[in-house]
This record gives sequence, C-alpha cells and structure tokens, in this order.
Amino acid sequence: MSTFQAPKGTYDLIPPSSATYLAVREAIAAPLRNSGYGYIETPGFENVELFARGVGESTDIVTKEMYAFETKGGDKLALRPEGTASTLRAALEANLHKGGNLPVKLWYSGSYYRYERPQKGRYRHFSQVGAEAIGVEDPALDAELIILANQSYRSLGLSDFRILLNSLGDKECRPVYRAALQDFLRGLELDEETRRRIEINPLRVLDDKRESVQEQLIGAPMLRDYLCEACKTYHEQVRELLTAAGVAFEDDPKLVRGLDYYTRTTFEFVHDGLGSQSAVGGGGRYDGLSEMIGGPALPSVGWALGVDRTVLALEAEGITLDLPAATSVYAVPLGEEARRVLFGKVTELRLAGVATDFAYGGKGLKNAMKSANRSGARLALVAGERDLAEGLVQLKDLQSGEQTAVALDAVVDEVRRALA
Ligand code: HAM
Repeated sequence: MSTFQAPKGTYDLIPPSSATYLAVREAIAAPLRNSGYGYIETPGFENVELFARGVGESTDIVTKEMYAFETKGGDKLALRPEGTASTLRAALEANLHKGGNLPVKLWYSGSYYRYERPQKGRYRHFSQVGAEAIGVEDPALDAELIILANQSYRSLGLSDFRILLNSLGDKECRPVYRAALQDFLRGLELDEETRRRIEINPLRVLDDKRESVQEQLIGAPMLRDYLCEACKTYHEQVRELLTAAGVAFEDDPKLVRGLDYYTRTTFEFVHDGLGSQSAVGGGGRYDGLSEMIGGPALPSVGWALGVDRTVLALEAEGITLDLPAATSVYAVPLGEEARRVLFGKVTELRLAGVATDFAYGGKGLKNAMKSANRSGARLALVAGERDLAEGLVQLKDLQSGEQTAVALDAVVDEVRRALA
C-alpha cells in the first residue's frame, strides 16, 4: 500500500521551518496584545448561512470556495473561509458589545479553508492572524489597525511591501455609484459570466485581471468621485492619521476586496516579491455586517494577515529570523547509572527554565554528540561511571569544545552561568 500524502492545496509545517511560522504568528500578534486586543478563538466551522450572509452570496468565497457539508444530524455547516463573520457572531452571542465598553477589540490566529485552485501562495488550508475592533466609528481606529499591521511587518524585517488604501463609501453613496457603474458596464463587450457579475456585484468587475477587460474599463466611473461628504471627511482623516504616524500608503481607487461586507476604509498589504499572490494581508471597515447577521448596528473595522504568505515574503527578501535555539543543553549519559542521574538533572534544569534535551535510546557517545550538535544546544552535559563516582559531570561548550568538570549538585548554577 502506498503511503498517504497531504491533501491537494495543503502542506505540513515541520521542524525546523515550522519555528518560523510560530515566530511570524507571534510577531503579528505582539503589537495587538500591546494595544488592548483580547484573544478570541471560535470553532473551525460555523453554520453555512453565517458566511453566505456575512461574506456575501455573490462572492467567489461563498459560491465557489466554501467547504460546505451537511452533518449526520442535518446541520448545514461550512469550514470557516475567514475570521470576521465568526468573530462578530461570537462577540454578539457573548453580548460583548453590551458591556458599555466599546470598541470590543479582539485578535485571533488560526486555520482557514478555501477551495481555491492551488498555486504558490494560494492554498486550500492556510493560516491567518486577524484583528477586529467592533462597535465604534472612529478614523483613529482604522488608522490604529493599519499602523499595527505595518509595525508587525517591520518587526519581522520586511520592507518590500506597500499599503494600498481606498474607501468604498457607505450605504448612502455606494448605491448611487453602483448604479452609475452598472450603466457604464452594461455598454461593454463582456462574456456571459461577467455580464452576470455586473448585476450582482459590479464593483468586482473592476478587479478583473484580464487585459481585454481592463482596456474597456478606462473611463469607468470611479467611486472616489461619488463619495458623500461624510465618507470623504472620514477617509481624509484616516489618511492624515497614517501620514502623521509616518506610515506610507498608496491611494488605490480600484482596490476592491473579495468580501462583500466592506464599507468605507479598505486596504491591502501587497508584497512585491511574491508574484501573482501578492496580498499578504487585507482588511477594512464593515459597518453593516452586524445587522446583516442579525445584530444591532455596530460599525467595525479589522484585518487579517496571511501567515503563509508572510513567510514567503520573508523568503523573498532573504530574511532569516534570529530565532533562539530550541535547546540550550543536551545531556549525554554513558551507561545505566549515568542515565538515571542525568535524567534527574534534565528534569531539574527544565524546572529551572533551561531548555534541555536528553540522548534517549542508549546511543553511543559519538552518535549522542552528533545529536547534541544537531539540536543547536550551546552546552552538552556528559557523564560516565567514573565522573559519577567522583560526584561530577562534564560540562562541554559545544562551540569552543572547552570542557569543565562540575559538581553534580552545582549543575543548575553552572549551566546558568555558562549560558548567561
Ligand atoms: P482576505 O483578504 O480574504 O481577508 O484574507 C486575508 C489574507 O489571508 C490575504 O491577504 C492572504 O494573505 C491570506 N489568504 C487568503 N486566502 C488565502 C489562500 N487561499 N492561501 C493563502 N493565504 C490566503 C479576510 O479574510 C478578511 N476576513 C480580513 C478582514 C478582517 N477584514 C476585516 N476584518
């Protein structure tokens, strides 16, 4: 029988490179934790209706990419394709918005699923770290989120990325624009599917990547020219706050996101070393989503950064994160008595907070030392019968090769001193 392989469009995170993924997740989360965002975790699946209503019936995500299924009990569920609808659902369900403490600021980290055509940077199972600020309309909140995402990427050493910024208007001005755009689009030479899209989601036609379509779009009405005064002022304030914070951005009047819930501020972080899957993160304001899923009016804003693509961006810029070695001390026992004694020391060192590993399986000295080197440890703790008879172990510096005999009951202190 042949062995199993990971399903199409998925891959496994495996040491040592998995350490980079963990570090990226932590780097994205750190500025959020430092800015009043609390951690939230929601189920990997939800009622399919939540996404249909939240993300939008006309989006690719809902019509083509959802892992939807019916359970044995007859529930219609879907693996989550994104985190915003679930987070808002959970916040409403827990009445977080009623505590009189708005905005409710939440962050999350997890796996998401979209049945997309796999290619480099586009997977069917991928990982996001996201943030949502629920219940307040304040340009400073939009700016805060963009500033924090920027800070995460900078802290990883990334620099070859750009922030694209747009406003999609609100329920006052967007319908007027939508109608004007539809009028324009209906006059173009377009295929059947695109013509259908004009009727359900005309803004998405602007996002069509085909050159034949883009050529025809020259002269299309721009949302920018239809924004109402309130949306214009709001957007100008977001732009000013970003500029004051020293965060560079590009106005992109054509930026349309793939989810229907956006209003006003929308943005995308694109990395220039990634080819076609260049969006490393994106987000925006979604002032109507709460009502769309049955809640009260709760203007909100958020983003999600893709962990997989952020790791690819690090590779594209040739950045290797400076990660601490997983193991600081590696214990190598020679003989049965040494195994017993050193195993005790390993436990003691771990309790003292020193990352320690042990040569299991009765390896010979040569093999055990090879494992010690491979572990990345700075120190090896080697003991044979003769050392133990004298109450000693050998502490070996694996970089310099220098070796000193240390009294058994001084091991923890000596190791600490050597690592300091
Ligand atoms: P999104 O733009 O669909 O937004 O996804 C955010 C990020 O997740 C993308 O920029 C990308 O890095 C990553 N991503 C998405 N799909 C894939 C895939 N198939 N393979 C690899 N990476 C992928 C959202 O999901 C919104 N919920 C963001 C948001 C939060 N808006 C407001 N709050």
